[in-house]
Amino acid sequence: MSSQGKVVKILGMAGSLRRGSYNKAALRAALELLPEGAELKIIDLAPIPFLNEDLEGQTLPDAVLELAADVKAADALLLVSPEYNYSVAPVMKNAIDWVSRPSTGAPVSGKPVALMSASTGMFGGARGQYHLRQTCVVCNMMPLNKPEVFIMQAQNKFDQDSKLTDDYTRNAIRKLLQSLVEWTRLLNSDKG
Ligand SMILES: Cc1cc2nc3c(=O)[nH]c(=O)nc-3n(C[C@H](O)[C@H](O)[C@H](O)COP(=O)(O)O)c2cc1C
Repeated sequence: MSSQGKVVKILGMAGSLRRGSYNKAALRAALELLPEGAELKIIDLAPIPFLNEDLEGQTLPDAVLELAADVKAADALLLVSPEYNYSVAPVMKNAIDWVSRPSTGAPVSGKPVALMSASTGMFGGARGQYHLRQTCVVCNMMPLNKPEVFIMQAQNKFDQDSKLTDDYTRNAIRKLLQSLVEWTRLLNSDKG
């Protein structure tokens, strides 16, 4: 785990599988907006199978083992998910469910985490993001309270190449990442 001065390793994942996903694009934008002293690794959730407890009594699927290892190795998580029908997109929920289970060692427990959501609607996925926050709490993750990043009307914030062009949103993500790094260092400050 990182303490003051050490590089903070963030693992980012997006809850949409769509090629042109705004949430994936927002996560990629975070790569350019990281503060000094932080790294961001992005993991693709497409290969993660649906959680089925029958799979837990045997060797876990490779994609799940990889996800669990990446979460374990990370100092902090960045979860970026669309809102589907007022809740968390299933791709994100499924991934978190896997890494909350004893079968994977529950590596999310104790992890600092920041949340973002992008939506074509007016609320920027806020309702889904609050559900995801609730899931983080029950999994004993340490969600960052502020700032909150809700990217509303995302179709107006990215260009044709899925690059985030909206300065307000870029700044909001920059602040979120800075706060996540500070939060992670604070939580780990007693660990040397
Ligand atoms: C099944 C489904 C349900 C959706 N429900 C909501 C919703 O409740 N609120 C909202 O703001 N947008 C909703 N949307 C629209 C999404 O915000 C939009 O499709 C967005 O682009 C999805 O994220 P992505 O671009 O990362 O794939 C929904 C989309 C789908 C496919």
